Amino acid sequence: MKNFSFHNPTRIVFGKDCVAKLNKFIPEKERVLVCFGGGSVRSNGVYNQVKATLSGYTVHEFWGIEPNPSVETVRAAVAEGKSFNATCVLAVGGGSVLDACKLIAAALTTDADPWEITRAGVCKTYLPLYTVLTVPATGSEMNSGAVISNKGTGEKFPVTCGFPVVSFMDPSFCLTLGQRQRACGIADAYVHVLEQYLTFPQSGIMDRMAEGVLKQLIDIAPKCVKEELDYDTASEYMLTATIALNGFLGMGVVPDWATHFIGHEITALTSITHAETLTMILPHLWYVLLDHKQEKLAQYARRVWHITDIKDERKLALRAIERTVKFFRDLGLATSMLEKNVDPEVGNEIIERFYKRNTSLGEGQICTPELIEAVIRRSQQVKF
Ligand code: NZQ
Ligand code: ZN
Repeated sequence: MKNFSFHNPTRIVFGKDCVAKLNKFIPEKERVLVCFGGGSVRSNGVYNQVKATLSGYTVHEFWGIEPNPSVETVRAAVAEGKSFNATCVLAVGGGSVLDACKLIAAALTTDADPWEITRAGVCKTYLPLYTVLTVPATGSEMNSGAVISNKGTGEKFPVTCGFPVVSFMDPSFCLTLGQRQRACGIADAYVHVLEQYLTFPQSGIMDRMAEGVLKQLIDIAPKCVKEELDYDTASEYMLTATIALNGFLGMGVVPDWATHFIGHEITALTSITHAETLTMILPHLWYVLLDHKQEKLAQYARRVWHITDIKDERKLALRAIERTVKFFRDLGLATSMLEKNVDPEVGNEIIERFYKRNTSLGEGQICTPELIEAVIRRSQQVKF
């Protein structure tokens, strides 16, 4: 196991009606910049709950943070937040609103342009951030990451910001999510675990924890994507997605994240939903890196998919890929760029970008621009 330092300061307040406790955690003297997405919170009652608990606070509302939040929208929020003299930020929404608010909270403390901060990759100072989560998927409610798009340049990059101080998670907010949104949430969480686990044998304890979370996602997926979601399943779904990316599974291990980096490029150029870019890339990446990942894929086949009738490691690894593809397909998600009819020019542009940046991805930077090209070409040519 590698040396590591672990710290996660976010308090989670979880459960039905937990938003009513917001005013116990945000000091009353604060000037709160409250940010929302496009309006789902108005139709499902979340907005009214937030408003009720914040009566008595000095509040300014910012609306219109879009899925795959753009730096252009962040700039507009920062301008309003500065003229309001915000002293803290409250994000109400899914990963997109939370991510945008992480950057807003940082940009409110400096004159630097938010894109400059994003490209630097790290925010040094930030206002306190509180969140009310409405989409389980990204883990943004309990991590310090944000992913920001630039509409002008057609780019999307991650940036490390501050952790939320407190995140409020009421599973009943999930009940208004559409079936596809829930499928995407499950797939995103599943790939978050795999990005940390599916490398090479590194840590017994991290492996066992990751395998547990993967099995949990496999178990709850069919109930999660059923037409009617019940509260108990929503609770399991919500907490599992948080644990998938709050750092608990990443202690002392070298992660992969290549699928995410390639996926962000696809979203930047096509606006395809984050999770589906992952399901379109991951299986192809595993085929291309089969020699390197074979041992871990075989372990995953045995321990997560309980495949006991195959002894040959190579065949086990291949079966693990097949089972994962079936899992994604059962969620109704595409497993290749070909199937999703992604314009071949998009693939060409992404390949060129990685060559130009001379970036290698994955554990130990094993995924060179040449291998990234092979992954994208395979996703463009092979349908499952
Ligand atoms: O904008 P509104 O009207 O609120 O509608 C949203 C949005 O259209 C809707 N929605 C939210 N809560 C709802 C709801 N609809 C019905 N009922 C509710 N309770 O859902 C739509 C999608 O929301 P979004 O926030 O975009 O989804 P998600 O949580 O999947 O976030 C995706 C973003 O997070 C980034 C992705 O790249 C993408 O930009 N990620 C962030 C990560 C992180 N911070 O650690 C890691 C992830 O890998 C990911 O990259
Ligand atoms: Zn993700």
